[in-house]
Amino acid sequence: MHSIVKENYDVVYSYMNDELTFEIPTIERKNDAIEFIREMVAACQKIHGTGGLDGAESYESWLKLLDKHRKMRYKGYESQERVPSITFFCVRKADNRIVGIVNIRKELSRKIDDMYAGNIGYSIRPSEQHKGYGKQLMKLAIDDCINVLKLKTIRAGCYEYNIASKKVLESVGMKPIAINSGIIKSIYYELKL
Ligand SMILES: CC(C)(COP(=O)(O)OP(=O)(O)OC[C@H]1O[C@@H](n2cnc3c(N)ncnc32)[C@H](O)[C@@H]1OP(=O)(O)O)[C@@H](O)C(=O)NCCC(=O)NCCS
Repeated sequence: MHSIVKENYDVVYSYMNDELTFEIPTIERKNDAIEFIREMVAACQKIHGTGGLDGAESYESWLKLLDKHRKMRYKGYESQERVPSITFFCVRKADNRIVGIVNIRKELSRKIDDMYAGNIGYSIRPSEQHKGYGKQLMKLAIDDCINVLKLKTIRAGCYEYNIASKKVLESVGMKPIAINSGIIKSIYYELKL
């Protein structure tokens, strides 16, 4: 565990285990990050947890956006504005490869709850899926939420058809608290400490 940034989140510690570590995106990662997104797009997979990288004008403008998201102030549960968030690449230590990405939100709003977006959004790149990284990433994100952000309730959502994500969320002890009745059903999960 090491201290990496001191901002709206006070001191944020990046958690790591034997295989993976969370890393704040930097300009040095530009080519790796673009390759990561292209791989997700080529596999026609919906990308979650990028803090807007998939729709950004450029990598540089995305870095600026992430900085803004980290520094912004929480405006309260009823605010329509974006809540503060922090985005990490999830990097495999052995070869320094980005295997995934995660966006963590300390506070929630009604808008976020209505979308079942919760505190954690995440993706593992297709070539690294099915290797247990999704579960490891989620465990690290939960550790961050509990030990750094001091959250007592952690929420995350997924489409009902997303078997892998359901298994990942259940692997950290999350329980379903709501299912929406839209054409594509979503499940909202919660972990209460
Ligand atoms: C959801 C996602 C992160 C899972 O990542 P992953 O690294 O493959 O997950 P893991 O390897 O830890 O596998 C978790 C479980 O899902 C299963 N699984 C993985 N991919 C699967 C698939 N395509 N279909 C069915 N089950 C799958 C694994 O076998 C494992 O099951 P087990 O608990 O019985 O062993 C990944 O599929 C992904 O990034 N998808 C696109 C973005 C996304 O949906 N993000 C989640 C936001 S809701």
